[in-house]
Amino acid sequence: MNDQTLSLRLERVAAHMPAAARLADIGSDHAYLPVALLRRGAIAWAVAGEVALTPFHAAERTVRESGLGQQINVRLANGLEAIEPGDRITAISLCGMGGETIRDILDSGKARLSGEERLILQPNGGEQPLRHWLMNNGYRILDEEVLRENRFYYEIIVAERAGPVAYSARELYFGPLQMQARSPTFLSKWQRLLRQKQKTLSSFARARQAVPEEKLQEVARQARWITELLGQGPL
Ligand SMILES: C[S@@+](CC[C@H](N)C(=O)[O-])C[C@H]1O[C@@H](n2cnc3c(N)ncnc32)[C@H](O)[C@@H]1O
Repeated sequence: MNDQTLSLRLERVAAHMPAAARLADIGSDHAYLPVALLRRGAIAWAVAGEVALTPFHAAERTVRESGLGQQINVRLANGLEAIEPGDRITAISLCGMGGETIRDILDSGKARLSGEERLILQPNGGEQPLRHWLMNNGYRILDEEVLRENRFYYEIIVAERAGPVAYSARELYFGPLQMQARSPTFLSKWQRLLRQKQKTLSSFARARQAVPEEKLQEVARQARWITELLGQGPL
C-alpha cells in the first residue's frame, strides 16, 4: 500500500466518501488515504490528523512528496482537535483503530462536530460500543460492510446525524444493515467468531478458578445470538 495504491480496506473506505468532500482523516498515519483521494480528484481538500510524532512526520513526508501541500493540511493533534472551525469539513474518516478508541475520539471531540459531516468509520473490533455511541448521539447508520483482507475481517460503518434512532441490542452487536444483507463475508466472519466463543466457553468450563458468572453469561449469550443468526438461512 502507498499513496497511489490503497489496501482493499482503505479502498472500500474511499468508496463511501461524499463527492468533493472536505475530509478530516483522523489517525491518518502515512496520510495514504487523503493523498490517494486527492490524486484521483475524489475529494476537494483534507486535514490529516495525527497524535503521534512518528506517523505525523510520515504524513508530512507523503504530502510533501505528492506535491499536494496546498490541499492537505497535516496537523499534530489529539483526535478531532485537528479540525478547525473554518475547515468546513464534510467527511471524517477514523480508520484502523479499535471501536472504543474511535468512540472516545468522537465523544471527546463532540464540540468539533457540526452534525453536517458524514462519518466513515473502520473499527478493528469494538463495533458494538461504537454503534451504541452513534445511536446515543443521533447518528443513523447509512451503510455498513464487512470485508476480508490478509485473513482479517474489517468492518466499515458509514453514519450521518439524522435525529433520534433506535437499534435493538442485536442490531448493535451485528450491525443493523449487515444483519439484513447477510453477505457471505459477514456470515463467515460470524462463523469464525462462533468457533472462538465456543472455545472460550470450553476453556471457562475447564478453568481451575471460577470465571465470574456475569462474564460466562455474556459469552454464552453472544454464542446463542450468533448461532441463531447463522441458523436463519443457508450459509
Ligand atoms: C493503525 S493506524 C491506522 C492508520 C490509517 N488510518 C489506516 O487505517 O491505515 C492508527 C493511527 O491512529 C493514530 N491515533 C490513535 N489515536 C489517535 C488520536 N486520539 N488522535 C489522532 N490520531 C490517533 C495512531 O497514532 C496511528 O497512527
